[in-house]
Amino acid sequence: MAKYEIIGGTPLSGEVVISGAKNAVVAILPATLLVPGKCRIENVPDISDVRILLDIMRSMGASVEWAEPGVVEIDCTDVPYGEPNPELVRKMRASYYLLGAQLGRYGRSHVALPGGCAFAARPIDQHIKGFGLLGADVEETEEYVAMEPGPDGLHGQRISLDVVSVGATANIMLAACLIEGQTIIENAAKEPHIVDLANFLNTMGARISGAGTDTIKIRGVKQLHGGTYAAIPDQIEAGTYMAAAVATGGNVLVQNVIPKHMECITTRLREMGAKITEFDDAIRVQATRPLRRITVKTMPYPGFPTDMQAQICVCMVLATGTSRLTESVYETRFFGYCSELENMGAKIKVEGKTASVVGIGDRKLRGTTVHAKDLRAGAALIIAGLAAEGTTYVKNIHYVERGYERIIEKLTKLGAQIKRIEE
Ligand code: UD1
Repeated sequence: MAKYEIIGGTPLSGEVVISGAKNAVVAILPATLLVPGKCRIENVPDISDVRILLDIMRSMGASVEWAEPGVVEIDCTDVPYGEPNPELVRKMRASYYLLGAQLGRYGRSHVALPGGCAFAARPIDQHIKGFGLLGADVEETEEYVAMEPGPDGLHGQRISLDVVSVGATANIMLAACLIEGQTIIENAAKEPHIVDLANFLNTMGARISGAGTDTIKIRGVKQLHGGTYAAIPDQIEAGTYMAAAVATGGNVLVQNVIPKHMECITTRLREMGAKITEFDDAIRVQATRPLRRITVKTMPYPGFPTDMQAQICVCMVLATGTSRLTESVYETRFFGYCSELENMGAKIKVEGKTASVVGIGDRKLRGTTVHAKDLRAGAALIIAGLAAEGTTYVKNIHYVERGYERIIEKLTKLGAQIKRIEE
């Protein structure tokens, strides 16, 4: 088991280049199953979630190759129908996209239930509802989901989601692109990675409109075709480095971002007092002191992302006054890191969906050993360690390595004292 050792106290300074978006790429890779022909995907982050997904696709019979760093060529033309390796599927969350992709390609599907970060109960009832409305007979057990065409066959349908779900929106899009007729998803998720998936599918010949609004229309086509597509930059990775710059009192140019995607985060960091300058595809974050207290409520896009909750919480811990942080997507997410931050000297009171974060003002967090319990919680503990006095050891870093490409290298380039130690 490896851990990170962080000697805190150095303000981050310099430039960091953001990688391709994890949550876009983990949807685009399963989407290639729908494509007869070669797909060249650029801006693919080399992170463990991507590697697992590529292993799953290889084990299904896809031809997969890293053509160059950040570029994957994948050809699923000859992939026969069959259950993807359940052990690999259970290693990650986004393997649930294989359900929609298989249903779209073969008209049936059999996939083990996914694993991934367990920071909350993560039901997939809206995915199942969507597949059912598209005409599938769905069998759901504690182990797997299996689907066959129902008595009327698969057909386009109007589907109104009961909750705004990224996963369900993407999965229904995957299933519907090759199903005859028009599918309309109402109350759809609007996240940048939903738009990216739609753009990928359209590049390969799908007819999807409205992605990025709450109504997405998919007109089924007979066949897709191969092509080249570059994934968007990772909103959450960028937000994490922006928060790290603020927390350490640094000055960082965050490159390869889409500033529009960052607005919800930029606004909050500005409210804390940070000076933020937007360029075409970069954002400079200059921290100031003292940090002001703020109020944040996580919401589906374009709201403040739940995946940035833990990182902004560290900034709140370092502010003056009491901030309020309300979680409206995954209520139990606070438990992944608040007690660890408290071990470093933070004072956080969680009541239901809201945390009151008492800023430590002029004082410093103190380094100690902390445990990541999920991906973003791990990122937050790294930020806390960078801002703390003394040495912090972050354990369970396999969570962090799921979603942050070359994090040690990137932080070291910004002046951080961080290393990975094998235990
Ligand atoms: C995706 C992201 C994850 C992020 C989350 C919310 C990927 C691979 N993961 O996860 O990083 O934290 O969006 O932005 O893109 N829900 C249901 N029934 C369902 C589906 C969801 O009740 O069938 C609920 C969930 O419990 C949650 C909310 O809807 O409260 C949003 O979940 P969803 O958007 O589906 O999250 P994921 O796709 O799992």
